[in-house]
Amino acid sequence: MVWKLITYTELYTPVPPYKSIYAIGIVENEEGVKRVVRIDRKFFGRLKTGMVGEVTESWSVFGNIPLFIPSGVEAREEKVALVTGGARGIGAAISIELAKSGYLIAVADILRDTEAENTIKAISNAGSKAVFVEMDVSRYESVEEGVKKVASEFGRIDVLVNNAGITKDSYMQRMSPDMWDAVIRVNLTGAYNCSRAVTPYMIKNGGGVIINVSSIVGLIGNVGQANYAASKSGLIGLTYTLAKELAPYGVRVVAIAPGFVKTRMALAVPTPILRDYLRRIPIPRLIEPEEIAKLVRHIIENEALNGIVIPIDLGTTISSLKA
Ligand SMILES: NC(=O)c1ccc[n+]([C@@H]2O[C@H](COP(=O)([O-])OP(=O)(O)OC[C@H]3O[C@@H](n4cnc5c(N)ncnc54)[C@H](O)[C@@H]3O)[C@@H](O)[C@H]2O)c1
Repeated sequence: MVWKLITYTELYTPVPPYKSIYAIGIVENEEGVKRVVRIDRKFFGRLKTGMVGEVTESWSVFGNIPLFIPSGVEAREEKVALVTGGARGIGAAISIELAKSGYLIAVADILRDTEAENTIKAISNAGSKAVFVEMDVSRYESVEEGVKKVASEFGRIDVLVNNAGITKDSYMQRMSPDMWDAVIRVNLTGAYNCSRAVTPYMIKNGGGVIINVSSIVGLIGNVGQANYAASKSGLIGLTYTLAKELAPYGVRVVAIAPGFVKTRMALAVPTPILRDYLRRIPIPRLIEPEEIAKLVRHIIENEALNGIVIPIDLGTTISSLKA
């Protein structure tokens, strides 16, 4: 039987104890019978009065309210991923992997250099589209401006990967307050800035995913990296908290904690230290950026993952790394 949507409202305020966002509407069939229905939030932003669909009986936390499934809108519009530090390294690999799975990509980075150009080319070779957003994640105004640009270019933001990061290593006694501040501002405040600016767009679309690129250093510490370790541990607390705050809006938040990945950041580590590290871990090699990218794709696709930190580290966290 065909049902026509005659009115609806999208409800954004999560109401305890149900804590969910949903749309509720009234549908009518050819015989003039009317029913109150629920509509899944995945249809947010695409509902129109007059659209037709099916009604199925369904249980939810609201009770037995039938579900209206609009016809012809199963395939969502193209989704958009914003990857900070997307120009090179892990961010570039994530951008390209998500492009392959059909995402439009906003490559956000501090500088549009040749590496950024190469990443943009690779995204279009993967059959997708990219927009470059010049953004300093440590400055809120810059992030806000960049996020507006993405929204006006692509119309929506479904995934945010907080990947931009820097190191300024030194033993704590020699670490200047500036070195401390700079790392915290990019790695931790940057993730807060981007999450805050992007979340309203996700909520408007009925949900999204935020992935914070932490590090095993945030889990087990590392000599000479007090600022970096604190920023990466901070990201884990941010992940747990945002996962609780944003779940009612359909936004999942997950952190990943990579070991050493073959990028400019890891290759800047003095060779003897890197060699010593590799000798101690169960699988003695560097991780490929593409291996991190595959995990990010999996997190996006697997809707059961939320509020966790996933190490991807060749067994580093089970080995005994000493100073
Ligand atoms: N490489 C590793 O071994 C490793 C391990 C664990 C975690 N990580 C984390 O992965 C992320 C990516 O690291 P990578 O190895 O690809 O490093 P990378 O240095 O190759 O790339 C970092 C990117 O972030 C960008 N960036 C730096 N500051 C920025 C700012 N203020 N605003 C916007 N963009 C900025 C850089 O321009 C660059 O494109 C970082 O958060 C890093 O801490 C790396």
